[in-house]
Amino acid sequence: MENEIKTKKVSESEGETLRVIQYADINPSGNLFGGRLMEWMDEIAGVVAIRHAGVWVTTAAVDNLQFKKSVKIGDILVLRARVTHVGTKSMEVRVDVYREEPATGLRYVVNRAYFTEVTIDDQGKPIKVPYGLELENPSEEAEWQAAIKRREIRKERRQEGY
Ligand SMILES: CC(C)(COP(=O)(O)OP(=O)(O)OC[C@H]1O[C@@H](n2cnc3c(N)ncnc32)[C@H](O)[C@@H]1OP(=O)(O)O)[C@@H](O)C(=O)NCCC(=O)NCCS
Repeated sequence: MENEIKTKKVSESEGETLRVIQYADINPSGNLFGGRLMEWMDEIAGVVAIRHAGVWVTTAAVDNLQFKKSVKIGDILVLRARVTHVGTKSMEVRVDVYREEPATGLRYVVNRAYFTEVTIDDQGKPIKVPYGLELENPSEEAEWQAAIKRREIRKERRQEGY
C-alpha cells in the first residue's frame, strides 16, 4: 500500500554497550565523573535513534537524569537504550545504566534518563521520523503511554519557560 506508514520494532534498534571505568573517567573524589557518564548515555541514545530512523539526529532534551549509585574505578557498566516513543519529528529514547557484579553477573541500577532525539536533514533542520514504532508487548505499550505523559510535561515546561 502506497500510504501505509512504515514501522520498525523496538528490538530492531535497541542496543547495549559495556564500559570498564578507567583512571581517566574518575573525578578527584574517586568516583566516576558524571559528565563522562552523560556523554556515554548521549552517545548510545543517539545511535539507537539513528538506527530506528535511518537518518541523522540531534539531542534536544534529557529528562530525569539521576545518579542513584556512585561508580568506582574498575567497575563494569552496562548501558542499555531503546526507543520508547516516536512523535512527528522526534523520538524518545530510554537509557538505563547498571553496574554489573563480575562474580555474579547481577546488575544494579546506577542511572536512567530519557533523551529526546530530533530527526534532522543535512542542514540540521527537523524532518519527519521516517518510521513509526511497532509495539510488541504490554511493557512496550506501557512505556509508550508513559512517554506521552513525559512529552506533555516537556511541552508545558517549554511553554512556561521553566
Ligand atoms: C533540536 C532542534 C533541532 C529543534 O529545533 P526546533 O526548530 O525547535 O524544532 P521543531 O519545533 O520543528 O520541533 C521538532 C521536534 O523536536 C521537539 N523538540 C524541540 N525542542 C524540544 C525540547 N527542548 N524538548 C523536547 N522536545 C523538543 C518537538 O516537540 C518536535 O517533536 P515532535 O514533532 O515529535 O513533536 C534545535 O533546537 C537545535 O538544533 N538544538 C540544538 C541541538 C544540539 O546541538 N544538540 C546537541 C547537544 S548540545
